[in-house]
Amino acid sequence: MNVYKPLLESHVGSWEAAFVLLLIGYVLYRLGKERAARIMQMVLRLLYLIIVGSGIWMLVQYHKTEPLYYVKGILGIVTISLAEMAMVRAAKQRPSLGFLIGAVVLFVLVILIGYRVIL
Ligand code: HEM
Repeated sequence: MNVYKPLLESHVGSWEAAFVLLLIGYVLYRLGKERAARIMQMVLRLLYLIIVGSGIWMLVQYHKTEPLYYVKGILGIVTISLAEMAMVRAAKQRPSLGFLIGAVVLFVLVILIGYRVIL
């Protein structure tokens, strides 16, 4: 069975959903809506697992010799780490906006690399 299409679709679908849930979840934490924000955060973590899992699988299966995808993979993991930091710090009402802005900027950069607009 060819797994490429379902892998790519789950990869793209997950980061699209993660981008939206990150912004909603962050605003909910800043508004003090803790319960709803925590649910968003749990769903986000599941999406991160799908993004990284499908990404590594595609890397190993189809792009093992292409350095670009290693760079994109590492930047993708840094993006997810910054996003998680933004949520964790927002949950504790600690300064977090810098992490969110960093995550959003890197998200856009990784998307542009993924669609081969840059690099
Ligand atoms: C926030 C994190 C990430 C975002 C926003 C993202 C975004 C994208 C985008 C936009 C594409 C192109 C999709 C297409 O051609 O239709 C893509 C493809 C790909 N991504 Fe990611 N990605 C992320 C994380 C990762 C990680 C962590 C890895 C690996 C460790 C990875 C590996 C790949 C690979 C190998 C492809 C190529 C798929 C193909 O054959 O076309 N990605 N990603």
